[in-house]
Amino acid sequence: MSAKKNYPTRGYLPVIWSYLARLDEVPCDIFIRSGGRTILYATTGSNPETLREKAREGVPLVVREADTYLLRRMLNVSLKRTLADTTIPPTARSKEAYAIAASIVSHTFRPRARFDRDEATLVQETVDMLTGVFAKEDDSLWTMVASMQRNMQTHSHAINTAIYSLGLAKAAGITDADQLRDIGRAGLLVDIGLTTVPARVLERPPEELDAQEIRVLRQHPVVGYAIVTRALGQTPPYAHVILEHHERLDGSGYPSGRRGGQIAIDSQVVAIADVYDELTTGRFGRPPLAPFDACQQMRFARPGQFSDALMRDFIALLGGWSAIRLSIAS
Ligand SMILES: [Fe+2]
Repeated sequence: MSAKKNYPTRGYLPVIWSYLARLDEVPCDIFIRSGGRTILYATTGSNPETLREKAREGVPLVVREADTYLLRRMLNVSLKRTLADTTIPPTARSKEAYAIAASIVSHTFRPRARFDRDEATLVQETVDMLTGVFAKEDDSLWTMVASMQRNMQTHSHAINTAIYSLGLAKAAGITDADQLRDIGRAGLLVDIGLTTVPARVLERPPEELDAQEIRVLRQHPVVGYAIVTRALGQTPPYAHVILEHHERLDGSGYPSGRRGGQIAIDSQVVAIADVYDELTTGRFGRPPLAPFDACQQMRFARPGQFSDALMRDFIALLGGWSAIRLSIAS
């Protein structure tokens, strides 16, 4: 299925063949880039097998930017099939599922990205598929943690926060399926408000920001709460977590300086997941810390900010996770 017509080179986004491989049909027109030209290669509804050869040759595949949403909806089908495919070894399955989820969610966290009901529904489905499996299967959750991307990007931080949050919530004794689902959704979306913060603010450590930049940064929980509520047309059950994820037990957090029991337990869970991933992936231009050093900092350099009981649960989990990571590496 090919055409000779040369399409404009701008307005296209790359797509990775392997993410399409599980679909029954090509979800939107797929183009190839060759010699500076953009050529229609596979049309909507055609057999994805036609792409396999080009993919094997390493020819870049792209889709129209306008078709990205359609493609990402279909990638959720691909994610579901990947998670259910027990013929793939667990580590490879986790890596593939993570990569597909990252591909879907990366668009959500682009600067000034549009976040409407369709977008909210799409990424909620993505995270629900992950948490739905991990809520039932500890082994899958642990393998996923060991496979997670460690270099800092906002969308991978969002997925990591959702996964750590789910693990900690389970360790803390939360068993209700709806509550676990909402903690996963909250973990994914806590920083959606950062899409409105300029890159020059996000790329520097907070201590280098001026007073106005800090004010803008510290508004992101309030902005995120408003974005999600507006997109869904109602306040979702996890919205308070977005608002509270930078509140700290000792009252030192923001935006409201809430303390102790004023902060919901699910907000406390997600806050630990958020900070741990931030410290271990080197967010805001900082070098990444080793897991041990990150926990030390959370417990002793920031005493009183996080619940001791939750930190103990989290550290116990990390011990198990690092054992899995070592066994995968060896
Ligand atoms: Fe945040």
